[in-house]
Amino acid sequence: MIILETPKAMRAWSLEQKRLGKTIGFVPTMGALHEGHLSLMRASVKENDLTVASIFVNPTQFAPNEDFNKYPRTFETDKAMCEEAGVQVIYAPGPRDMYPEGYSTYVTVEKVSEGLCSKTRPHFFRGVATVVAKLFNAVLPDRAYFGQKDAQQYAVIRRMADDLDMGIEVIEMPIIREPDGLAMSSRNRYLSPEDRQRALCLSQSLFAAEAMLKAGERSAAVLIAAVREGMKTVEIDYVEVVDAGTMQPVERVDGPIVLAVAAQVGPARLIDNIKFKP
Ligand code: PAJ
Repeated sequence: MIILETPKAMRAWSLEQKRLGKTIGFVPTMGALHEGHLSLMRASVKENDLTVASIFVNPTQFAPNEDFNKYPRTFETDKAMCEEAGVQVIYAPGPRDMYPEGYSTYVTVEKVSEGLCSKTRPHFFRGVATVVAKLFNAVLPDRAYFGQKDAQQYAVIRRMADDLDMGIEVIEMPIIREPDGLAMSSRNRYLSPEDRQRALCLSQSLFAAEAMLKAGERSAAVLIAAVREGMKTVEIDYVEVVDAGTMQPVERVDGPIVLAVAAQVGPARLIDNIKFKP
């Protein structure tokens, strides 16, 4: 396993591999890896000659009151899991390598970044788009893999890569869930056993709404009301039906949509979603 810690070292490695004609797949993460992350790595390993995974807890996507300091950091187990998945390189820069003194450049993706998670985390997608642009510039991937778990993040990155002519294929992979339906998340480890139980209402309400969609329900208001009812025991941040490409709210489901939810469950802010195409 090769571990690279600076943008310069990462880029030099990638340039050399490209010179040799190798394709590079890339999976950006913040570590604390679970099966969701591994599914992205396995897809990349299958579809590319080489796979790079990054592990970087990105300070610019956390607000001062958020969990940056206590975000789980489990590098040794992460490394073993990457190895197991067939990853060749872990790119693990430090905050100073990414944001040296005087750092001043940020990427803002308009429209798709607005609404949903931006309402309570207005700083978030600017931090995500900026760090992913920087990671792309160091790793120079042919393909990059993101989870549907963060559906708005995928839409933002996709838009950024297209708009800035990055020439990178941005690929979305399905949500990996625990056997009882809870979407896997690094933040699930914050949950007490009682919170863990309560957290199930996110996926259960979404699955119930999915059944309604399959049975022909097309009204966003009806779907939202049903999901809200199912999530009564947690502190709802949002329940929305949005266009899957633009992330703008829709009133009726007549194209591909995302039904997305976010809620505070004890100490953890959790998100989940389903996608549906009529
Ligand atoms: P992180 O939360 O570590 O997630 C890394 C990738 O794993 C994201 O693409 C995310 O959507 C995916 N992922 C997380 N849980 C998943 C699940 N249950 N099933 C499938 N995929 C899942 O997202 C980030 O990090 C950061 O914002 C990052 C893009 C690395 C930028 O800092």
